[in-house]
Amino acid sequence: MAANEDLFKKITSHAKEYGFVFPSSEIYDGLSAVYDYGPFGVELKNNIREYWWKSMVQYHENIVGIDAAIFMHPTVWKASGHVDAFSDPMIDNKDSKKRYRADVLIEDHIQKIEDKIQKEVDKAKQRFGEAFDEKMYRETNPRLLENQSRIDTIKKRFYGSFTDNNLADVKLLIDELGIVCPVSGTKNWTEVRYFNLMFSTQMGSVNEDTNMIYLRPETAQGIFVNFLNVMKSARMKIPFGIAQTGKAFRNEIVARQFLFRMREFEQMEMQYFVQPGTELKEFEYWKTERMKWHTSLGIPATKYRFHDHDKLAHYANAATDIEFEFPIGFKELEGIHSRTNFDLSAHQTYSGKKLQYFDQESGESFVPYVIETSIGLDRTFLAVLSHGYREEKLEDGSERVVLGLPSFLAPVKLAILPLIKKDGLPEKARVIMDILKYRYRCFYEEKDTIGRRYRRMDAIGTPYCITIDHQTLQDNTVTIRDRDTMLQDRITVDGISDIVREKIKAV
Ligand code: GAP
Repeated sequence: MAANEDLFKKITSHAKEYGFVFPSSEIYDGLSAVYDYGPFGVELKNNIREYWWKSMVQYHENIVGIDAAIFMHPTVWKASGHVDAFSDPMIDNKDSKKRYRADVLIEDHIQKIEDKIQKEVDKAKQRFGEAFDEKMYRETNPRLLENQSRIDTIKKRFYGSFTDNNLADVKLLIDELGIVCPVSGTKNWTEVRYFNLMFSTQMGSVNEDTNMIYLRPETAQGIFVNFLNVMKSARMKIPFGIAQTGKAFRNEIVARQFLFRMREFEQMEMQYFVQPGTELKEFEYWKTERMKWHTSLGIPATKYRFHDHDKLAHYANAATDIEFEFPIGFKELEGIHSRTNFDLSAHQTYSGKKLQYFDQESGESFVPYVIETSIGLDRTFLAVLSHGYREEKLEDGSERVVLGLPSFLAPVKLAILPLIKKDGLPEKARVIMDILKYRYRCFYEEKDTIGRRYRRMDAIGTPYCITIDHQTLQDNTVTIRDRDTMLQDRITVDGISDIVREKIKAV
């Protein structure tokens, strides 16, 4: 774990050093859990967003996009349940004065028992080799069964207490499990209390309660309140989806872990409106579809897993998370939820407007059910960045840091590098740059040795470097260097564009 935390720190400082992510307002010592994207970060972020948009909107004829405002009528958040229930159960340790989410403390405790089980399974696997039957082992080994039964008991109690809103019992459970504060190591806890996560501000010049509005904590409600407008104006027929990307704001109490938990972040959400009764089939479809999207980023399937929710919100009839193995462990990257007709019905009640679909075939009107796919852009950025980061020892004993980003997402696709800064090489390189920069995001650099420039390009994940040398002036050929293999090929200047286009295609 320590090694991974170390890796996480290295990724964070690499992101800053190479212009991907900076702490917000850093000259004023930063603002907790708020970050700015630098020159290469913004390119990577834009590329991820664009790929998501294409996959969802362009490749699905029945999905359209919107861009709703961040500010919304305050009643939206009353109807959606955020005013009354968008809060986290928090507990403070009196010695360290640190605040934690009570549910996360319990989930971490469960995870520790699960890790113990996994360790035993791995050990047995090694001992028995090919003959090992994992299913049988898990079903019969007494120690494993005992630990599994502990997990089941904790989960039952934990979900029961939350469902009943019994925070006193959550506190009791934390005491009984002997959970200690990771900082002070003591069990000196306060009671568990709820904190609402929405930021609020005033609209207009008069500071009155009636003017209070919220910064949206999710983009989804902008989609629900535009359901009728979109359906009518774009002539959509069920099933159809509305997609949106944009900022969301949450006053996260425990805000840490770099881009993983931010107070201002970006979501990419899609609400898919379906006929009631078909929602579970559609839910399964979107589970598969979204997992395919993740692995299409060139990241192995083993880095992802589904985490089906045992404890469902009262309005949901199925929910799962796609978790990614970040350096800090497997954590939620995307949520897929079957939300029934909860949101549209609530907005119908609060607004007094009919939010229904008229089915011409059956002649009936109904409030559609909704499948939601909701992914964090910043978390996807972090997943791609942390998967791509690697430190390599080279044959000559030197070391390099490479960002093995999927080529089609890389901030810079192509570096144009004259070997030296004289003999007409920069001029020739400029001619090539001026042609290619209109097709790809290129980066021109002539300062420093070519080896240093290659290293810098490796560190920002540039998949290809084009080097212009003396031979270029004679036969119009250049070398193209591959970031991952470091191998170089000689190709004609006219062939660069086609070769690069082929290499940077999305998977
Ligand atoms: N509309 C549903 C919704 O907002 P959520 O699980 O609360 O669901 C969806 O959020 C996704 O948004 C998460 O899976 C995560 O990727 C991202 N997200 C949520 N809170 C975040 C935070 N504080 N910082 C960064 N990303 C966050």
